[in-house]
Amino acid sequence: MLCFSILCAFNSKLPGSPDPTRKISFNEDWQFFLGDSVTADKTGSWRTLNIPHDWSIEGEFKKDNPAGLSGGYLPGGTGWYKKKFKVEDSTKLTSIKFDGVYMDSEVWINGHYLGKRPNGYISFEYDLTPYLNYNDTENEILVKVDNSKQPNSRWYSGSGIYRHVWLNITDKLHVSNWGTFVTTPVVNKDSAKVHLEIELENKYTSAKDATVKTTILKDENSIISEISDLLINPSGNRTISQSLWIQSPELWSAQKPEMYIAQTDILINDEVVDSYRTPFGIRTFEFDLDQGFLLNGEQVKIKGVCLHHDLGPLGAAVNTRAIERQLEILKEMGVNGIRTAHNPPTPELLDLCDQMGFIVMDESYDMWNHTKTDYDYANSWDEWHKKDLEDFIIRDRNHPSIFIWSIGNEIQEQWNEQGVKTTKELKAIVRKLDTTRPITVAMNPPVNMPDADVTTQFDASQVSKNPIAASGELDLIGYNYAHQTYEYHQKNFPETPFIATETTSGLQTRGFYEFPSDTLKIWPVRWDIPFDGGNPDHGISAFDQVRVPWGSLHETTWKIIKKHDFLSGMFIWTGFDYIGEPTPYSWPSRSSYFGVVDLAGFPKDVYYMYQSEWTNKDVLHLLPHWNWKEGQMVDVWAYYNNADEVELFVNGESQGVRTKQGDDLHVMWRIPFSAGTLSAVSRKDGAQVLEKEIKTAGKPFTLKLTADRENIQADGKDLSFISVEVIDENGNLVPNANIQLNFSVKGQGKIVGVASGDPTNHESFKGSSHKTLNGKALAIIQSNNEPGTVELIVSGEGLKSKKININTE
Ligand code: GAL
Repeated sequence: MLCFSILCAFNSKLPGSPDPTRKISFNEDWQFFLGDSVTADKTGSWRTLNIPHDWSIEGEFKKDNPAGLSGGYLPGGTGWYKKKFKVEDSTKLTSIKFDGVYMDSEVWINGHYLGKRPNGYISFEYDLTPYLNYNDTENEILVKVDNSKQPNSRWYSGSGIYRHVWLNITDKLHVSNWGTFVTTPVVNKDSAKVHLEIELENKYTSAKDATVKTTILKDENSIISEISDLLINPSGNRTISQSLWIQSPELWSAQKPEMYIAQTDILINDEVVDSYRTPFGIRTFEFDLDQGFLLNGEQVKIKGVCLHHDLGPLGAAVNTRAIERQLEILKEMGVNGIRTAHNPPTPELLDLCDQMGFIVMDESYDMWNHTKTDYDYANSWDEWHKKDLEDFIIRDRNHPSIFIWSIGNEIQEQWNEQGVKTTKELKAIVRKLDTTRPITVAMNPPVNMPDADVTTQFDASQVSKNPIAASGELDLIGYNYAHQTYEYHQKNFPETPFIATETTSGLQTRGFYEFPSDTLKIWPVRWDIPFDGGNPDHGISAFDQVRVPWGSLHETTWKIIKKHDFLSGMFIWTGFDYIGEPTPYSWPSRSSYFGVVDLAGFPKDVYYMYQSEWTNKDVLHLLPHWNWKEGQMVDVWAYYNNADEVELFVNGESQGVRTKQGDDLHVMWRIPFSAGTLSAVSRKDGAQVLEKEIKTAGKPFTLKLTADRENIQADGKDLSFISVEVIDENGNLVPNANIQLNFSVKGQGKIVGVASGDPTNHESFKGSSHKTLNGKALAIIQSNNEPGTVELIVSGEGLKSKKININTE
């Protein structure tokens, strides 16, 4: 039970918000019941938990779970959530906002039905005011979540109220939900014009004389724009416009994501009755036919990744720190773009992209009217698509990180006139709400691509014949895959710029290697031919040598995108592995092999190829490990940059100097294995740039624990990600150690996830035991609300156990 007062809301308010009642966290102390009927209430089998919550991730991997391989073999079902609460002030308006509920949610307050929302990724709000009890009489909110009709997704969706829930308490005269739209119609070095459309709602029964004052905040300086003596009539909304100028604006860019805040205050008789903050950024951009993407006048190649919404071992349950960690790992790799594949993301992802500097392609749908799986959103399309798309654009359009709206991914209707009709309809909806960003659809070029990674052997003019692309409706031609066609783009579409909306789909298991490393494997051979090859243990070589038939090796697509200025950029499928879609395998594999980073957050080797190309920092990365059979022929690759050559040594003996030729992105040696030390030196103009060495590891001896952060907040939300490595007596990673580990904690925190990055592991991510994959595993610790220390103890058979302390403050 929670009583709302300014004090208890203080910790969860919008960062920097002057009005703590505008966004009160409503996540704590819900009751949850998993089952079809709410009459279960009587059985007392409800349990208490906090939201965000995903019940699927707590379930067992089972071959016959109806979500199948797409859903990672985890269960769906029907779940119920309820929560009691008191509200004090009956003169105010109270509403509840859900950032996302998967799926088919229905909500009741005090027995009164508020409505349903089929889409599992959309944010929505209900006004509770007319049905509330006040002061000491309790209220009860009840939510039904129905994820029982399966399959309904091509990837792991999670189930439940898996994003945040907020309560908004406002004056009867207030800025509406998502009620501001900030644009910057004029931007130059000296000044920028900031334009605001502000939607006001007056629920008083009389007209109100009010002042609407907007203040722009940046550091300590503020600039004020004001409109006075505004008469706002009751019932219905009224939109007003305000414009102001900022001198010497600091522009938003991926390297320096400068943000401003527009604070809109509503005053009646000089008293502030409502205060609403809109973070925004100032930048100019265009997609140019010849130069690709220009941000603030400068050419920027979009080096992006597609991300599904799950957070690996945490499932779909949103945690801001977990998202931030993903983005940090991607930033280190040189990524500057994110595609929200294939649905509206959680708002925290967009806030972080604003703050950390990512170029976002915000995507609404994976299907329109035609299903891809039996029970997906297409079944709700007719009734809901307009409302959902409107809400999506209105919610997200103030984020400076968003540069592209994608209204669909590989839509079934792309091949016929219905697709063109729907494109026109959706485009009109978006245009009405935002004219500042280009609209695309992630389509497929209608060509049968040859198997080899070559650019001949196909009729490039066919590329222009996808009906949606050919309709001239799109601002950007967005093609998935078929990288061979990209260089013909200007011929095929002389008037429309290009973005590679989805690329690559390379396949790899972290730390698993096959020789020879330079033979291409296309797994499966064709998308419609079942896969019967691969390795018995379902591993896939981490040399960049395996891909799906519709995709490319990592190096192949990047070389093409890199070569042509007019190709604005690309979004790799995918940045991180995700649960579900374990292509090319199926059971027992349950998560993807596509990620550049595995499900636990450990980079695969190709991460360093991108890092060597996409960042300026010096890179020298050697693969594979150095534990093989004596005399076995081994391929050694080096990814490097900022150097002319790399020399490789085995036990101090040179194996030769290699230099990348032409557009090469790695160098290779084929040498017999000899135990000891593999080392390499990169040199520029004869001077050493970097040195790397890998030693042959001995027997597993103990563990090395490394926390991404040793000090976290004692707020019940913050996380420390602890990497566990199996090491030998000399501290070397044992690269083939697959050892069962046990995790336990003492003190002010708990374990909320364990993982290894192994797509075939069926141990629960929520358990306290997990097998390492090729020497590594991960434990995620969450603080509670008491400051202090959390001690994580990790043990494994035959290993000296290890402890690490995390401070919570
Ligand atoms: C694409 C699709 C993605 C994913 C990917 C796997 O065609 O858009 O959602 O399924 O294939 O390669």
